[in-house]
Amino acid sequence: MHEPRAVSVALQKGGVGKTTLAVNVAERLSSRGYDVLLVDLDQQGNATRAVGLEDAYTGETHIGHVIDDEDDTGPHDVIREREWFDVLPAHEQLDAVESSIRNATFGELRVKHDVVEPLLGTEYDYVIVDTAPTIGPLSDSSLVATQNVLVPLLMSQPSLSGLDRMTTQQLDPLRRELPIDVLGVIPNRLEGDNEERRVLSAVEASRFRDRLPAFGRSREFDDPDSPGPGIRKRVAFRRAWRDGLPLAVYDPDSDMVERLDAVADIVENGGVEDVEHDA
Ligand SMILES: Nc1ncnc2c1ncn2[C@@H]1O[C@H](COP(=O)(O)OP(=O)(O)OP(=O)(O)O)[C@@H](O)[C@H]1O
Ligand SMILES: [Mg+2]
Repeated sequence: MHEPRAVSVALQKGGVGKTTLAVNVAERLSSRGYDVLLVDLDQQGNATRAVGLEDAYTGETHIGHVIDDEDDTGPHDVIREREWFDVLPAHEQLDAVESSIRNATFGELRVKHDVVEPLLGTEYDYVIVDTAPTIGPLSDSSLVATQNVLVPLLMSQPSLSGLDRMTTQQLDPLRRELPIDVLGVIPNRLEGDNEERRVLSAVEASRFRDRLPAFGRSREFDDPDSPGPGIRKRVAFRRAWRDGLPLAVYDPDSDMVERLDAVADIVENGGVEDVEHDA
């Protein structure tokens, strides 16, 4: 039996696959029989819309009420059940919620105290939080609440710079107070160009070397039976998204389902296992 775990899917760079990874990992974990809560802390509300909760995005009550000390709205008043997992939706007012967190004393602790702590290990085995591409009180709140991070990373220089920024401006400062762990760095949307080799080598030479899962390592370039390292660029991801479905539901035969399962393993195990160390 694995211990319950909360994980933020985060990188301060837009369009790298945070929402895609959050939704699909939540679904893979739920397919194993776990109770999973997906929390959407991005004002864009992409995860919320992807699971068909447009009405909640503009609804009357939202997470801002849950974390407001003067309001008795609880998480159950805003959590919605979907077929695969439960969802705490984003809301168009999340900007205002972010300001209220910024202005409150220890505001960044509220998501932890009012959402994750009461639910994790009681009602949910896993809480997966989708975050915005910006550093701010909301993404800080998410990291503080989950203390675990999964980083989807495109094999591009801007993505790598985003990881560097997140590390120096957010993770390292928070880590002086809390043990926040990067569970995995997940190369995403690879299609096989030379820039990818260069960027992947750079990750393999960085402090995140041992955070790459086996399927995300350069060695996969040379394995004739492998589609190549990382989560590959597959049109099925976009089509699944368009239909409001996780990939494994839209196309159970997709070769990327296995890799999403490997990411779910990382969440289950609390990190990457079986990493070969340099001799
Ligand atoms: N492996 C992949 N193959 C093909 N398309 C992908 C893949 N991963 C993500 N996408 C597509 O890329 C786009 C951006 O992905 P996504 O919205 O998950 O990124 P994000 O990091 O959450 O973006 P934002 O920073 O805006 O929240 C989406 O259209 C998604 O369908
Ligand atoms: Mg997103």
